[in-house]
Amino acid sequence: MGPTAAWWRDAVIYQVYIKSFADSDGDGIGDLDGVTDKLDHLKRLGVDGLWLNPCYPSPGRDGGYDIADYFAVDQALGGMEALDRLIAAAHKKDLKILLDIVPNHCSVAHPWFQQALAEPAGGEMRQRFHFRNGRGQDGELPPNNWQSVFTGSAWTRTRMADGMPGQWYLHSFDSTQPDFNWQHPAVRQHFREVLRHWFDRGVDGFRIDVAAMLLKAPGLPDHGDHQSTADLTSHQPEVHAVYRDWRIVSDRSAVDRTLALVGEVWAQTAEEVTAFLRHDELHAAFYFDLMTQPWQAAAFRDSVRRAMNALDKLLDEAPDNPSGNLAWVLNSHDAHRSVSRYGLIQPHASGSQGVMGPALRPRGRVDVPLGQARARAALLLLLALPGSVYLYQGEEFGLPEVMDLPEAARQDPIWLRSSGAEHGRDGCRVPLPWRDNAPSFGFSPPGAADPWLPQPAWFGDYACDRQEADPASTLAFYRTALAARRELITGAAARLEWLDIEASHTPDDVLALRRAGITVVIVFGDKPFTMPDEWGEVVLSSDALAGRDLQGPGAAWLASR
Ligand code: NOJ
Repeated sequence: MGPTAAWWRDAVIYQVYIKSFADSDGDGIGDLDGVTDKLDHLKRLGVDGLWLNPCYPSPGRDGGYDIADYFAVDQALGGMEALDRLIAAAHKKDLKILLDIVPNHCSVAHPWFQQALAEPAGGEMRQRFHFRNGRGQDGELPPNNWQSVFTGSAWTRTRMADGMPGQWYLHSFDSTQPDFNWQHPAVRQHFREVLRHWFDRGVDGFRIDVAAMLLKAPGLPDHGDHQSTADLTSHQPEVHAVYRDWRIVSDRSAVDRTLALVGEVWAQTAEEVTAFLRHDELHAAFYFDLMTQPWQAAAFRDSVRRAMNALDKLLDEAPDNPSGNLAWVLNSHDAHRSVSRYGLIQPHASGSQGVMGPALRPRGRVDVPLGQARARAALLLLLALPGSVYLYQGEEFGLPEVMDLPEAARQDPIWLRSSGAEHGRDGCRVPLPWRDNAPSFGFSPPGAADPWLPQPAWFGDYACDRQEADPASTLAFYRTALAARRELITGAAARLEWLDIEASHTPDDVLALRRAGITVVIVFGDKPFTMPDEWGEVVLSSDALAGRDLQGPGAAWLASR
């Protein structure tokens, strides 16, 4: 791929949760040199680049999404030199590096916030955040009724130098993550400098944390009875001006290479997502809708259709300006692994609540082989869709969610803030198994400290080295599927055609679509589906095939003769 190709359009990007990927120095915490050591694995897997979860200095109250310094790299992860080594080694292998940028909030340890706390009400630094007086007689009630995404009030009261209660500050997430005030010019300027700093260091782009938030409803009013906090903290029209500005910064930095801005956009509608993809805003935005769908053909088809229709509308608005593209995803560090979501056969009555909890982090009894068969089939749909695809580390091993972490080990602020009502996200962040017969399954070197989250005994069954030797392994399947995408799909026109399924199957059973001469068929139920001859030769399947009968759950790609 040439340096100036629009690689972000259909790249396959591998998400690295650094702390849990590979530990090079034996402290039980993954680090950047650990990532560099595994680049051969990623290259062989067939991805085009890596998105690194935040690697900046941070107290680590929310896995690094609480940043104390946007211009440096955490020493615990290897510091700036280790990131430089990783960027150079990745580029040598023609792999892109995306960093995570977190513009909605920082850490309470950030110097601006520390200075703001030391100031009286109305101080200059306080303007860069959302400080307000409380309601009630003595200001003892939060300034409004907004809720944190991590449960509980979105406000925390400060103490003044004399120990008396003071103003409140807004935090859409944990109380250690104060929200920036994006109306303040210094905040805007700070982030322009952050972007330039890392572009100059050689990174190829950014995944933008909660990209639709940033601007809040003017006056920070209470939300009404039929509204949620998100209605007032997300998708405010002014947020788009921020990304038009960032696009100018990234276009100017893109001398002799192509850079990408990729938004984490949680949204109610596909149109809200594609609104960020206008030609002068983001290059890509995650489409999470598909990830939240139940395992049903109609639900998957309708979700993809909604996305495609929204993209078409965008194109109609400005036919001469190429828009950004969607980023498709089924796994991340925020959700239960797809194997466990799709294999859930007995949901726990008190499953996850809260924002997105039930869809992304359902708890209960899992049929792992069923979940694996479904997850493999879903991958074949994802890889055929127009846009980029994001994989999450360990997905290529078919790892299930670790649902039963010991309570004392859990660290997610969602777990802590909900007093254990929500399990949160630790179960998809358990350090990866690389070698079956090695301490910490090869995550750390011999003689190292215990991994920062305990690995269950069964993790060895999924270890990379065991799968290397097995042509029927999930790892082998991912390699084959990614190679097929590169050969047959990458660079193809976006157009999708939905195919009719013979009457013997209900619409909830089978889904079939065609793109670039490839027919993708997915059987959701357990009734086998006979693939019509006119669909062509099978070139890829999620499981072994008996003639032209595709067993459910399963998927295949066929090439027209
Ligand atoms: C979204 C990130 O993916 C998640 O891990 C984080 O906790 C929140 N944003 C807050 O930064």
